[in-house]
Amino acid sequence: MTKYIGVLTAGGDTPGLNAALRGMGKAALDTYGFQIIGFFDGFRGLMQDRNLRLDGDNLSGILTLGGTILGTSRDKPKSMPVGGQWLDMTDAMIDTYKRHHLDVLVCLGGGGTQKSAFHLAERGLNIITLPKTIDNDIAMTDQSFGFDTALSIATEAIDRLHSTAHSHHRIIVVEIMGHNAGWLALGAGIAGGADVILIPEIPYDINIVAEAILQRNRTGKRFSIVAVAEGAMTQEDFKADEQGSNGKGKKKGGTEVASVPRLSPESMPGSIRTLQLAARLEELTGLESRITILGHLQRGGTPSAYDRLLATRLGTAAAGLIADDKYGVMVAVRGEGTKAVPLAQVVGKRRTVPSDHPWVESARKVGTCLGD
Ligand code: F6P
Repeated sequence: MTKYIGVLTAGGDTPGLNAALRGMGKAALDTYGFQIIGFFDGFRGLMQDRNLRLDGDNLSGILTLGGTILGTSRDKPKSMPVGGQWLDMTDAMIDTYKRHHLDVLVCLGGGGTQKSAFHLAERGLNIITLPKTIDNDIAMTDQSFGFDTALSIATEAIDRLHSTAHSHHRIIVVEIMGHNAGWLALGAGIAGGADVILIPEIPYDINIVAEAILQRNRTGKRFSIVAVAEGAMTQEDFKADEQGSNGKGKKKGGTEVASVPRLSPESMPGSIRTLQLAARLEELTGLESRITILGHLQRGGTPSAYDRLLATRLGTAAAGLIADDKYGVMVAVRGEGTKAVPLAQVVGKRRTVPSDHPWVESARKVGTCLGD
């Protein structure tokens, strides 16, 4: 029996999205004889019914392409800016689903997308999700596609920063993506041999970081690379953050630097904290400091071989689940295989770096300062 599949990509783009679309699309069309349409720009395109029929032609030649041929957005069904107002557009999305007589909607995305997709599942739609994010922080899956590519990009950046830091005897602070989870900063920091790695899960003491750099200097290593995740915080900021939100009963955090406005931790973008970190390290060590913010470079360009393979495995597994009428699940990675995990077990959780994770232990054993 022919089934009708809708698919969308939502949240921040990630290398491997097109490989996943191709994997699912080709398996759906060629192996199972299903029909498939893509909605543009995530849940917004679903709401507006802007779509593209996916076929052998437009699914060809996209395996190695970065970004997503469908476009993406961070719009959420329950609260979407429409005509100057924030509106619940769930019903419009359900209408689109019904208009196309869809059997299933497949949503490719990170934590926010899993939540939005679960909301649509609770409203009665058949939903399957795939885990994608460079942050690698989706719960209940060993891995998400996009992470491996971003890891290589960030590692190469650290490699390149080494020679210039060495030549100028400088501290180079390199900011790596990850507001809530430090997998990328930790992984790239270890692979690139960063001297200090700061991640959100391990609040740091600036004096310990400065001392580690000074100690390197005393042994003749006159430069240091500090890999810092966007969400890394000082221990003071972390405590202030824990004590409340939106200023209610909240202590002001943030390290004072004359030229940078003092902000409370929850309103302070990662990059401002990174500027403050570099300024403080220069002050405490007397060493010249520079900052490199890798930003969206980490998400751009062609996916790694590993991510193409992973995305293809997940995409084809999704087509298989549709053939089996298995809905309300995320296709998770389990070792060499995949597993359908109920969405209810995925949403509202985040896969962060445990303090006793083997990567953390390895970093400590090679003498990397983690700021604690
Ligand atoms: O969620 C993935 C991610 O790349 C994070 O690492 C980063 O903090 C965020 O997205 C950046 O979001 P945006 O692309 O909306 O600026």
